[in-house]
Amino acid sequence: MRILLTGGAGFIGSACLVALLKRGDDVAVVDAFEDTLYDRHIKEANLRWARQHGHFDFHEVDLRNREAMTALLRHAQPELVLHLGAVAGVRASIAKAPYYFDVNVTGTAQLFELSRAVGVKNYVLASSSSVYGGNTKAPFAEGDPVAHPISPYAASKRAMELMAHADQRIHGGHVTLLRLFTVYGPRQRPEMAFHKFMRLIHSGEAVPMFGDGSTGRDYTFIDDAVAGILAAAQHPDGYRIYNIGGDRVVRLNEAITAIGAVVGRTPKIAPRPQQPSDVALTWADLTRARAELGYNPTTALHTGLTAMWRWYSTQTASAPPSSIDSRGGVQ
Ligand SMILES: NC(=O)c1ccc[n+]([C@@H]2O[C@H](COP(=O)([O-])OP(=O)(O)OC[C@H]3O[C@@H](n4cnc5c(N)ncnc54)[C@H](O)[C@@H]3O)[C@@H](O)[C@H]2O)c1
Repeated sequence: MRILLTGGAGFIGSACLVALLKRGDDVAVVDAFEDTLYDRHIKEANLRWARQHGHFDFHEVDLRNREAMTALLRHAQPELVLHLGAVAGVRASIAKAPYYFDVNVTGTAQLFELSRAVGVKNYVLASSSSVYGGNTKAPFAEGDPVAHPISPYAASKRAMELMAHADQRIHGGHVTLLRLFTVYGPRQRPEMAFHKFMRLIHSGEAVPMFGDGSTGRDYTFIDDAVAGILAAAQHPDGYRIYNIGGDRVVRLNEAITAIGAVVGRTPKIAPRPQQPSDVALTWADLTRARAELGYNPTTALHTGLTAMWRWYSTQTASAPPSSIDSRGGVQ
């Protein structure tokens, strides 16, 4: 299949790229090496395995660049747009709300406009569990209220979902939104909690623990997330939203202990006040994704952390971004 993959140099995008190349898809990647959260050299390294083992077209282009996007879409003629490109990061969005909306909402609206013009009818977009805001009814189901995001990032993702709904109503075809729940594993973004905790525990520094450690997250291992993304691409069904989670809630203090166990050091804790943009709990109801996509996350926390630690401790950029090839050894 001919696929346009945005954000393909990022954490999740580069893992998807590997999976698509292994399937034999014809992939055009768009990424601007945007540096709000982390440096370009890390993203270059994310692409190294795909560059060595597969063939794909890479375009260093800002998805907001109308002229460049028009030209590359005409050339690529994709059947599927897999849109993972975005400025991510809840806390970083607080100081940059207009920019987050420009990339995540306006950039996505333009991507729809330009790709519709070359006949695209199937879209899979990365949304986020953060759209559930401070909801207290758990687990979170796709039909739950999502009108109260508590960060600009979350608001931008919800606005993107609404814009995508309008686009699908007008133009038809298939638009699938995936509400990803905290993804972890090899190549995780360096500012994300598990990566940061691994780095600090490994170097003997204190781990900042926001709140009392009781906040809970539904963590999704990267291979499970990629399986959900690929399943969504294969089950187009008009406008649909799916939760993609790991099917368990892990408390913050439990996560820190588990990371300490794989690193082999007892974590030191530096208590910090709860952050206003952080929600107390995320927990995915996977009923719909299971029934309609056949999504079934299988990776236990210890297994996923072991794979991530093995990647972290070697930092070999020639290893595949996802641990698909190496999971056998740790399961
Ligand atoms: N990692 C998670 O736990 C998580 C959870 C929920 C949703 N998501 C969503 O999944 C997607 C991928 O997240 P990730 O963790 O891999 O983040 P990432 O930052 O590693 O990847 C995003 C990529 O998009 C690119 N990008 C940003 N702005 C761009 C622009 N204007 N033009 C072209 N490229 C641009 C970045 O350079 C980056 O490589 C994002 O849409 C994110 O919002 C991620």
